[in-house]
Amino acid sequence: MSAILMSGKELSDVLNEKMKKSVEELVEKGVIPGLAVVLVGEDPASQTYVRNKEIRAKKLGIHSVVERYPETIKESELLNVVDRLNADDQIHGILVQLPLPKQINENRILMAIDPSKDVDGFHPINMGKLFIGQPDRIPCTPYGIMKMLDHYGVELEGKRAVVIGRSNIVGKPMAQLLMMKNATVTIAHSRTKHLQELARQADILVVAIGRGHFVTKDFVKPGAAVVDVGMNRDENGKLIGDVKMDEVKEVAGFLTPVPKGVGPMTITMLMYQTIESAKQSLK
Ligand code: GUN
Repeated sequence: MSAILMSGKELSDVLNEKMKKSVEELVEKGVIPGLAVVLVGEDPASQTYVRNKEIRAKKLGIHSVVERYPETIKESELLNVVDRLNADDQIHGILVQLPLPKQINENRILMAIDPSKDVDGFHPINMGKLFIGQPDRIPCTPYGIMKMLDHYGVELEGKRAVVIGRSNIVGKPMAQLLMMKNATVTIAHSRTKHLQELARQADILVVAIGRGHFVTKDFVKPGAAVVDVGMNRDENGKLIGDVKMDEVKEVAGFLTPVPKGVGPMTITMLMYQTIESAKQSLK
């Protein structure tokens, strides 16, 4: 048996068509959705992410601004950038690409973003709303994963989910979203004992540990839905996930590929939340 591949690329293509129409409707009402992405430094992975976001925004008719700053920027200067974007009526979504250089307190920057423009869902107010079960802006990667699980008909109610990874960006919000759909959720991480046995109990296994090909078929319950959040480079520079796709696809019931799995959906949800922000600005 070979797993059903959950294509984030295909689902994104479907959602892109709907979002294009939403943008057209907004433009007719006099609002062009605007997204500002702030990139500090020269990190090649961040540059790729930012370029992909820019390409997608343009494709949808979203007004896209990318502001690039040197690695040496001071925290106070970056706070000024955020303040200016908060006050800009043409900007409905602000994303500060992470990670930021050492001299900058990441939390201080994220907290400075107007929560209504926080299309990443990282502001403590938006995180807090999510964790009390009243989500507003939601971190895009776990949000996109929920859309994929729903689209491919993966049942969550009463199921066992294991999330490997405990970051604020993916692991923690992922667990909360699964719990809100009545899954029984365990968060595991690099220090979890007997990780393989734990993972093998999961009906839904989300892997965001950041280690190439970490999850082998021995981690996977037959028929499970496996979601691979990993973006690693192998020794030849090829993009690989956290899951050993070739062997896991023979055991799993559903699997997200890398590339064209979770990655495109993260960008899709970013665009979706930018459009939603623009809609709210009309009210
Ligand atoms: N760095 C890696 N992923 C992300 C993301 O989703 N948003 C931001 N702002 N930075 C990131």
